[in-house]
Amino acid sequence: MLLAQISDLHLAGPEGPRPAGLDTDAVLAGAVARLNALDPRPDGCVLTGDLVERPGAEVYERLRELLSGLRMPWWPMVGNHDDRALLRAAWPGAAGLGAGPADAFVHYTVEDLPLRLVMLDSLRLGSHIGELCGERLAWLEAQLAAQPARPTIVFVHHPPLQVGVPHLDRSGMASASAAALGEIVRRHPQVERIACGHLHRAQAARWHGTLVTVCPGLAHQFALDLREQGRYTPADEGRGYQLHRWHDGCLTTYTARLDA
Ligand SMILES: [Fe+2]
Repeated sequence: MLLAQISDLHLAGPEGPRPAGLDTDAVLAGAVARLNALDPRPDGCVLTGDLVERPGAEVYERLRELLSGLRMPWWPMVGNHDDRALLRAAWPGAAGLGAGPADAFVHYTVEDLPLRLVMLDSLRLGSHIGELCGERLAWLEAQLAAQPARPTIVFVHHPPLQVGVPHLDRSGMASASAAALGEIVRRHPQVERIACGHLHRAQAARWHGTLVTVCPGLAHQFALDLREQGRYTPADEGRGYQLHRWHDGCLTTYTARLDA
């Protein structure tokens, strides 16, 4: 099984702002063409949040339009730049987004692949910080407890660990949420991976008995700045995506650049 992951699209629409000076519509159109041309073609694509730069009905409509060209199933999630209700409104009744209130959590599972996919919703309204409240943690626990023997990859926008980049860590996942997630993951060794976005730079670390990987941004990257007084600085380096290959009980992750 080969699964693509794209993250932090920050789609702005034709009239919208240009994050870090980028035409993110063109970036997404190029990424769709690139993924379609891959041989072998991935079995699906997960979009790990920050789908748009500023939420609005038009920009989600544009996102739907661009993604309609993707010749594989794809599954969206929310990040701190997203709006649950507007995302649902763009795809009424779409598989995965679920029924219920428009602003209900965007969490769901994908069951028809050799590796089970669990999508988490770490959006905290009005904040860049991530959160997993009691309701979301209980949902995750129940999902993992239901199929303990099934190899699983958990996707969540905010990485749950401190990556050692102070300005990024200050807008990461709230420490109580991360600690609770860590306890759940420890109890469920079938979690092969926690795959995230948010940091706009590929990285990986072992955490609570599993591996956390972070997908680069599809749009701008952030320069690597480890200083305490470091700041968000867009960098034109390594925009791209990841591929996760599940074969013979081994999950391998490749990072690919869009400009290569
Ligand atoms: Fe982002």
